[in-house]
Amino acid sequence: MKEEARREAEAEASKILSAIVSLFSSVYVTKWKDYFCQMELRFAPSFQSRIITCASMEVLQAYLTWRQKDCHVQNQCNTCLWMLIKSGNSEREAQEVLKGTGKQERNELLFQQFGINYKKLPPMFRQGSCVLRRAKRFKSEGQEHAPYPSLAYPALIPYYTVLGRIQPQKLAIEVEDSDKYKDGETLVKSPGRNVILVYSGNIASRSFWSEHSCLLKELGSFEEDINKVKPEYVKSFEFVRKLLPSTWIVVRIDGRHFHGFSEEHEFEKPNDGQALNLMNSCAVAVMEEFKDIVFSYGVSDEFSFVLKRDSQFHDRHASGIVSVIVSFFSSMYVMKWKGFFPEKELKNPPSFDGRAVCYPTKEILRDYLAWRQVDCHINNQYNTCFWMLIKSGKSKSEAQDYLKGTRAQEKSELLVQQFGIDYQTLPDMFRQGSSVFWDKEDPTERYSDGPDGKSRKKVVVEHCNIIEQSFWEAHPNILDEER
Ligand code: GTP
Ligand code: MG
Repeated sequence: MKEEARREAEAEASKILSAIVSLFSSVYVTKWKDYFCQMELRFAPSFQSRIITCASMEVLQAYLTWRQKDCHVQNQCNTCLWMLIKSGNSEREAQEVLKGTGKQERNELLFQQFGINYKKLPPMFRQGSCVLRRAKRFKSEGQEHAPYPSLAYPALIPYYTVLGRIQPQKLAIEVEDSDKYKDGETLVKSPGRNVILVYSGNIASRSFWSEHSCLLKELGSFEEDINKVKPEYVKSFEFVRKLLPSTWIVVRIDGRHFHGFSEEHEFEKPNDGQALNLMNSCAVAVMEEFKDIVFSYGVSDEFSFVLKRDSQFHDRHASGIVSVIVSFFSSMYVMKWKGFFPEKELKNPPSFDGRAVCYPTKEILRDYLAWRQVDCHINNQYNTCFWMLIKSGKSKSEAQDYLKGTRAQEKSELLVQQFGIDYQTLPDMFRQGSSVFWDKEDPTERYSDGPDGKSRKKVVVEHCNIIEQSFWEAHPNILDEER
């Protein structure tokens, strides 16, 4: 039972960190052009996230203090460094000057050599940015009250006990009518949400907490202000899961609320070829970016990425591996959207969640992949029947009742007899899903690896039966442990 609870907690943690980093990535790509209209986004950004479990207010406070102090120190050092470089020093010389300096010395250096009063630099640079929900006051039955608790997102507090930390901490912010808000507060344009952006010194203090009643209400108050925090103390609360050595790691990502997403974007039912091609193209990009991935298999809104058995990617830390893969995939999905849907506007940024599971042997790994392909077949056959019944005039519940308890053979017969469809002739991509892997050389292909003329490999997408032994015999290099 204990083991089950641990697994559930791991899956939950993975879901939270991946969903946040995924949405963050796709929003980042979506908003890029608003901030850099002259500059094309040429590479898909990916962010890493991790979980720090803050079971007490003290830990939460220590965490926030640590991050804000880190921001301050980094920014002060970088300001000095770049001023020294601008004034003619090489990077090495500048680093030499700064070696062993304290905060006060750096402040004096900036002031005396460059006339810069550090405290006057923009608060966003010195203090970082806090995003939180504003406690909205409205009247009902003569009483004024704040109806919704406020959660900060994405930088502050997605959950009381669980904090997602996103690196690098960059935030694209849209600002609207800032005059209406107090000094240092701006409203982040976000439909239906009253989110504000605040810059402040010591965000982990009683005074900051008291000023923002939403925080007090949702999280409670700090006992006293703290000053000194050792990063090791906070790091000890990190939710670390190191994946078993010498096992095949599978990262499965799954679109979040893709039912709604596909309705909103009018995907063809039950399968939209272009939507699936877009997923496949993102998987190709992921495999090109993360060379430890040896095989991936996709169906509907999910993709499974298999990392080679002895991979040391992110030191085999589950959060690092899952977050960068899901983040890169999400960025790619938004960047590639126009190429696959030139006529359709991306109405909402998509997001995916992900989890990592280890498989100790090739056989068990192949069982896993077979399970996903069987699932693809079962779902596709059901969905094909379902949507044909709907097209023929049945309601959704009638179609569901009709199909209840039917077996594969019966569904095949239904398709032939009622609709003249031979299931086996439907596109392979719909029936078999998509397998993506590095294949042998083809110098004319764009997806290539290795020096000219030598061991060129390319990533290919095929729609074939991966349950049968023959596929693996034909491609022995995929799961070759010596590769
Ligand atoms: P969560 O994963 O729990 O967030 O829910 P979800 O809405 O993403 O559903 P789920 O992952 O179980 O299933 C994926 C859903 O995406 C399907 O039920 C479909 O509604 C939708 N979907 C995926 N691929 C296609 C497609 O090619 N065409 C259409 N029309 N819908 C699709
Ligand atoms: Mg889904």
